[in-house]
Amino acid sequence: MPRHLITSALPYINGIKHLGNLVGSMLPADVYARYMRARGHEVLFICATDEHGTPAELAAAAAGLTVAEFCAQAHATQKSIYDGFGLSFDYFGRTSSPQNIEITQHFARKLNDNGFIEERAVRQVYSATDGRFLPDRYVEGTCPHCGYDRARGDQCENCTRLLDPTDLIEPRSAISGSTDLEVRETSHLFLLQSKLQGEVEGWIDEVAGTWPQLASSIARKWLAEGLHDRAITRDLDWGVPVPADTWPALAEDGKVFYVWFDAPLGYLAATKEWSDADPERVDWKTWWYDTTDVRYTEFMGKDNVPFHTVMFPATEFGVREPWKMVDYIKSFSWLNYYGGKFSTSQHRGVFTDDALSLLPADYWRYFLITNAPESDDVSFTWELFAAQTNKDLADVLGNFVHRVLTFSAKRFGDHLPAGAASGPAEHELGLQLSGLLEDYERHLDGIELRKATATLRAMWSVGNEYINEKAPWTQIKTDPDAAALTLRIAANLIFLFGIISEPLIPATAQTLRGLWSGTQRDLTDITWPEHRDVQTLDWLSAGTEFTLPPVLFAKISEDDVAAWRDRFGTDS
Ligand code: 2FM
Ligand code: ZN
Repeated sequence: MPRHLITSALPYINGIKHLGNLVGSMLPADVYARYMRARGHEVLFICATDEHGTPAELAAAAAGLTVAEFCAQAHATQKSIYDGFGLSFDYFGRTSSPQNIEITQHFARKLNDNGFIEERAVRQVYSATDGRFLPDRYVEGTCPHCGYDRARGDQCENCTRLLDPTDLIEPRSAISGSTDLEVRETSHLFLLQSKLQGEVEGWIDEVAGTWPQLASSIARKWLAEGLHDRAITRDLDWGVPVPADTWPALAEDGKVFYVWFDAPLGYLAATKEWSDADPERVDWKTWWYDTTDVRYTEFMGKDNVPFHTVMFPATEFGVREPWKMVDYIKSFSWLNYYGGKFSTSQHRGVFTDDALSLLPADYWRYFLITNAPESDDVSFTWELFAAQTNKDLADVLGNFVHRVLTFSAKRFGDHLPAGAASGPAEHELGLQLSGLLEDYERHLDGIELRKATATLRAMWSVGNEYINEKAPWTQIKTDPDAAALTLRIAANLIFLFGIISEPLIPATAQTLRGLWSGTQRDLTDITWPEHRDVQTLDWLSAGTEFTLPPVLFAKISEDDVAAWRDRFGTDS
């Protein structure tokens, strides 16, 4: 069995992330990591804050802090929010770590030794108004390819093409808006990606066949346009310094590596951070270097795809060392907010800290994964959020648990009754659930999250149908043994739901798992159901004691929706 390395795109440090960021990488990665662990696989799930680059410098200046202080605080804030969402990272590191500096400099030296780095004089945009060279993303203008008028100098977020600032039509400074820009000469390191095109192409042909269409088509489009040599250094104070032993003049000049050069190495470095703190726990190199038994799955939004399918693989080929390359890329389109973009800079949409202050994580996890933008963009609206929460979580799952356990407690006390032996209806129910479980497993194995959640919901519904058809509240009048059987089976369904819902709604799943005591079988180690147990539905035998859980999911009222619409706004 392979070991599973799972990473999520590294959230940028400059502010609290919105729900679109969460559903575009970290949350689906967590669902997959939880599922794989539950299936008994060895998993390493790594993430980190992406801390270099100009936005960090500007955010720190705005907060009146040094960049180092700002990043330390912002990292802690983001970490506690992700804990709040139940994201089960094995380690959540930082790209500003000494380990990342060491690894990034190592990669740069190796690329240089192998002839893939060249120092070139470049002409760079200088803003007299701002008194500085402008990093690419701080030059804005119109995209020459698609005409989008707020394209950044590094990438057009509308058509995802990578750009150079000088490509932009009518460029302006994103800091001051000034159009008083001039081009000055300076020296930078270039990664000679053009020499690596063939290797990257061959690799994409080999691995990308099973990737989501979104990811493979972006990679192929990019390769078809041809790999260009790209500058990998910048004039900034904050970043991985160019190593003085190899490039003394550039180091003297204070050049640092471009954030997209060191960020993908942040995964390796975060693992090393964790490993260095306790070498007994994990040996980072066994996951990343010269491995034959590691399957690496990366989660990311579509804007990250070119970097991870082309640019970073080119780097990995260029070092001529056997670093682990990605096996599967799960990519996402955008989650929109009322049809427009979520925006960090304009604070439009729902941000992760606000979301947690409104409702517990499981409400959000369920809605976001159920609506994950796996192919097309998807729109968040409060109306849809309320409708789905009320129907699926409150009515279908929550109410089922509540009805079964309160009625059982009322009629039979706080121990599960024995009742009659299972009959054809229970046999049929077991078979149906086992079939659905097979579908659910297949969808989760394939990381088809919307299909997986639809199947999970179908399993919850089957439980509801069973109890509605059997109607123990009617059975009890004429045949208490039949009612008891229905309730004992339904209690087993609750136990089953506690296991299979864990990847999606872990806190609720834990509540459902913790209701029972005095079971005949020791159930504590079960992390995933066996199909034969699903067919017999007898984890919990007669006599098992249970407690009544609090309301699992409160309904969202029309007043809530109106208040949240008001508070968060709905205009684009
Ligand atoms: O798009 C982003 O938010 C980047 N911070 C993602 C970096 S992912 C990786 F390569 F490090
Ligand atoms: Zn464009």
